[in-house]
Amino acid sequence: MHIRRLGQSMQVSAIGLGCMGMSQGYGPNPGSREDMVDVIRSAVDVGVTFLDTAEVYYGPYVNEELVGEAIGPIRDQVQLATKFGWDIQDGKSVGLNSRPEHIKKVADACLQRLGVETIDLFYQHRVDPKVPIEDVAGTIGELVQAGKVKHFGLSEVGADTLRKAHATYPVTAVQSEYSLWTRDPEPEILPTCAELGIGFVPFSPLGRGFLTGALDSSASFSQGDMRATIPRFQAENLSANQSLVNHVRDLADGKGATPAQVALAWLLAQAPWIAPIPGTRKLSRLQENAGATEIGLSADERADLDALAARVGVAGDRYSEAHMKLVGH
Ligand SMILES: NC(=O)c1ccc[n+]([C@@H]2O[C@H](COP(=O)([O-])OP(=O)(O)OC[C@H]3O[C@@H](n4cnc5c(N)ncnc54)[C@H](OP(=O)(O)O)[C@@H]3O)[C@@H](O)[C@H]2O)c1
Repeated sequence: MHIRRLGQSMQVSAIGLGCMGMSQGYGPNPGSREDMVDVIRSAVDVGVTFLDTAEVYYGPYVNEELVGEAIGPIRDQVQLATKFGWDIQDGKSVGLNSRPEHIKKVADACLQRLGVETIDLFYQHRVDPKVPIEDVAGTIGELVQAGKVKHFGLSEVGADTLRKAHATYPVTAVQSEYSLWTRDPEPEILPTCAELGIGFVPFSPLGRGFLTGALDSSASFSQGDMRATIPRFQAENLSANQSLVNHVRDLADGKGATPAQVALAWLLAQAPWIAPIPGTRKLSRLQENAGATEIGLSADERADLDALAARVGVAGDRYSEAHMKLVGH
């Protein structure tokens, strides 16, 4: 597995593992908790060592507890990222909360659930408009001083806020949705990361499964599958968006690769400081996704993909209307 550098000094596997879906988000889990522990531990054997979770996944807290159990024997081999930023009351997220005292409490609780002494990368999950970002960055600086956190990250942040945060305490990575069908970070965030030497971690790099070719307009989403609430996954939009995935599949077939590998290879080719975190509950898919590092895309292949994506566009927003209001600040 190739290693990539985020920010000044964080080294991660080029392909990471998003653990969210192991607890909730994409419908009933085909595996047991023990199976998920096994997937996470086996990830290390294929070199996938950059693990992603969050306080709010999904219960809340359940995903961090799962990741904590899994990494017990492999703590020294993984880079562990988690996220703060929600106001969780009686087990429900009731809004944003990045007040300094709250961040410190959440950090302690995350450390306990994960069973570790340090969080390698602590992201603000969404910018809290009520708290100046300088206060958030300063608080992370204090947590670093205290040895509880190693690196500072921001998720779905806007470019101005990113600059202000970085000027207060160095940001190691931005984590936002980025993939062949979600190009939002391209105009501002990626150039800002390039300029400031900040790494970028694309979440939902497989388009929540769509770019793997596994979903067509007949796909149905069970209760608890967040895709049921996302406009892009409504049947008419899934149908309208097929031409992009058909092209990805054709390109993959010609290279002896899979669509998922092409989607990830395209991201890896964007910049050497990009490390996607595909989510899966299956070891075979984890191995397949890790194989993306061996798939080279020529400049012509990338240009064709970009031209097609620009031509066909994408039908439907990437989040519900309510959630769209939380991103990009
Ligand atoms: N910062 C944020 O706000 C935010 C938001 C969303 C996600 N994230 C993080 O990003 C991670 C990844 O994103 P994501 O899970 O939303 O989306 P994703 O990685 O784009 O897609 C996950 C979906 O693709 C399927 N899949 C994975 N590999 C596959 C393969 N090779 N072939 C066919 N299907 C495959 C998975 O199903 P199976 O599980 O059944 O394999 C799952 O349904 C999350 O786990 C989470 O840690 C962060």
